[in-house]
Amino acid sequence: MNGVVIGLQYGDEGKGRVSAYFLKDYDWSVRFNGGPNAGHTVYDNEGVVHKLHHLPGGAALGKKVALHAGMVINPDTFIIECEKLNWRFPLAISKDVHLITPEHVDSDSKGSGIGSTKRGIAYVYSDRALRKGQRVEDNAEFWKKIAASPAHTTCYSGMPPIEQGETALLEGAQGIMLDVDYGDYPYVTSSSVMPSIAHKVTRTIGVMKAYVSRVGDGPPNHPDIEELRVVGSEYGTTTGRPRQCTWLDVDTMAYAMSIVQPDEVVVTKLDVLNDLDGPICVYRNNELFSVGGLDSYKSFLLETFPKINWFSESPKGDLIKVR
Ligand code: IMP
Ligand code: MG
Repeated sequence: MNGVVIGLQYGDEGKGRVSAYFLKDYDWSVRFNGGPNAGHTVYDNEGVVHKLHHLPGGAALGKKVALHAGMVINPDTFIIECEKLNWRFPLAISKDVHLITPEHVDSDSKGSGIGSTKRGIAYVYSDRALRKGQRVEDNAEFWKKIAASPAHTTCYSGMPPIEQGETALLEGAQGIMLDVDYGDYPYVTSSSVMPSIAHKVTRTIGVMKAYVSRVGDGPPNHPDIEELRVVGSEYGTTTGRPRQCTWLDVDTMAYAMSIVQPDEVVVTKLDVLNDLDGPICVYRNNELFSVGGLDSYKSFLLETFPKINWFSESPKGDLIKVR
């Protein structure tokens, strides 16, 4: 049975850590959307931290890795990222993955208007839509470098070479509120964040942070709370930018759940709320409500979103199953 991990907010929900936790039950770790705009933080089996941008969490955990059609790669930074991990994972890469060129990055650095990560994302996906993009298949030099690497590498067409009896955990990048179709357009990324593989994916794990953070322009349109940013260390993994932080908006979360339809939901970084001075609050109908302390907040979340069944209290710690 294959699974997918999807962010229910604006990215940075802690998907890397959640995937790493669940990956022990899977053979493959697969990325299918976005590119180096993502930043997934994963601790490997020795407790060493890895900040991944192209690779899914399984790359740090010795899983088989597939980079599937729908995602985009910057050939230069990708190779550096793999070298940092000593190419310790078998790698399958779709011939249809699109490549980010220096021109894409240049154009994006001049600003695509909404506070992007400046990794060339809007421009590489534009070229894909204009049918003039460059794919892995079109760049022999890039493929040669990967093929010569110490990792066992394959380039595939169609579906990843997952064998009968093997299972895959797909790791979404960004979050549903940044989805080009379902997010807060135009304050979105340039790809879908929903899986481009639906094949036998029978388990959808949604990930939400106990509060909201956002980098770049656009919603949530609620006042920024400095204390959340400081206590939660909310600075972008990819760009180092301070994340705008605010309380959970119940209506936005209900919308996100209605799109993603998770079978189970993990709530991350509850421990941050425990370290705040005042009560925990939420927005509902654009009004602010106080929920109280952490225990009341957990009960509130369980009542409001019955799909929640995992709480993760410590940024490095295990996930705690509550029901
Ligand atoms: P782009 O994907 O670099 O074009 O950025 C578009 C918007 O999505 C900006 O608001 C970015 O800050 C945001 N964004 C893109 N990728 C991520 C991510 O992985 N985590 C958080 N925000 C992201
Ligand atoms: Mg991130």
